[in-house]
Amino acid sequence: MNVLIIQPGFPVEIPYFVRGLSQAGARVLGVGDTPQRSLPRVAKQGLSAYLQVGNLWNAGKLIDALRRWDLPLKLHRVECLWEAAMELTAEVRVAFGLPGLDPDQTQLFRDKDAMRNALDRAGIRNPRHARAASDGEILAAAAKVGFPLIVKPVAGAGSANTYKLGDERELRSLLPRLRGVAEVVVEEFISGTEYTFDTVCAGGEILFHNVELYRPDMLSARSREDVSPQTISLRDLSASHFQRARAMSEQVIAALGYRTGYTHMEWFHTPDDEVVFGEIAARPPGGCSGELANRTCDFDVYRAWGNALVRGHLRQQVERRYNVAMVFKRAQGHGRIQRIEGLRAIERRLGPSLLRHELLPIGARRRNWKQTLISDGYVMLRHPQLDKTLALADEVADTLQLYAG
Ligand SMILES: Nc1ncnc2c1ncn2[C@@H]1O[C@H](COP(=O)(O)OP(=O)(O)OP(=O)(O)O)[C@@H](O)[C@H]1O
Ligand SMILES: [Mg+2]
Repeated sequence: MNVLIIQPGFPVEIPYFVRGLSQAGARVLGVGDTPQRSLPRVAKQGLSAYLQVGNLWNAGKLIDALRRWDLPLKLHRVECLWEAAMELTAEVRVAFGLPGLDPDQTQLFRDKDAMRNALDRAGIRNPRHARAASDGEILAAAAKVGFPLIVKPVAGAGSANTYKLGDERELRSLLPRLRGVAEVVVEEFISGTEYTFDTVCAGGEILFHNVELYRPDMLSARSREDVSPQTISLRDLSASHFQRARAMSEQVIAALGYRTGYTHMEWFHTPDDEVVFGEIAARPPGGCSGELANRTCDFDVYRAWGNALVRGHLRQQVERRYNVAMVFKRAQGHGRIQRIEGLRAIERRLGPSLLRHELLPIGARRRNWKQTLISDGYVMLRHPQLDKTLALADEVADTLQLYAG
């Protein structure tokens, strides 16, 4: 099977998918706007050929360049694991008559209101919602949806410009800030615990799934600098709400016509035991989630994805062995990292539960925590028992401190 990957070096996890696909037996081709020599080593290892184009974002020019590419082979699939290039990829698929999401289907994953309309029709429990493009429309949508509510961009990512509003006064005072966003969706606020439901699918069937708990919910993690956000990949998914989330995810995949590849869903479990859909992306989750899945099951999800594409099955039994916690750290203060406290104590305390850590070194400039969940570094740990995993993750959050100045 010959598979073209658009932008095979970005985001950071994608090179592992390129390698996994080639290990599954595919011939992997890449097209992107960076020079071949600057691709990450792992991506280069997996690629049979690479085409650099001057303008990746003009679909017509990209398709022409691919047609002129002197390759003595036929393409079977084109894939993209990067949210920003989903529409572009769909256009390439249509031009070459390849299977996978077409431009109309892609919209259902990119436009949060269109996504909800399609899922409402399938009878899935969504938050109430309405789209709005002006102050008046936002107020009318709020009257329809009710408070508390969420306002967010129709095509949002990374919780940017996403707000929880308690009443009309709060909403009115936010309106000037929302004028920079072309179109928003106003949604019923769902309180509860937020989880992911991530899948590897083939032919519309879920072959592998992984669930992560967000601690705290993603909006709080993205809007409060003082928290150390945690993502916990869960071992035991036997509880009823996880089983209902699986059933809901199957319905979502069927309703949106998704067939083969990686999906990343988010959902809520409410205090009155309801399971409510959040959103779906037709790509893997970020924030080292591939590694979290691997460490949960001691397997290789990148290769599993490759096998799903090439063979339609995983070629292995998957056993869930650990809870894996990722604790993201933000330094106190601005500028460059000056000192790190508590790391030795954490290493001693965690012992074999510590998988690895990657913190910015002394002297490095702080990252923008609003733009990257990775923040100024992270610690990854695992334990077979969930209560112990959560306690260790909290210890890391409380004891390990980075100071900048
Ligand atoms: N209706 C809702 N009720 C409660 N919380 C919500 C709702 N909609 C969004 N949120 C919160 O805001 C976060 C961001 O919203 P959403 O996932 O829709 O957008 P996003 O920007 O695509 O997210 P990301 O790229 O971070 O996954 C959610 O993870 C959740 O914490
Ligand atoms: Mg989201």
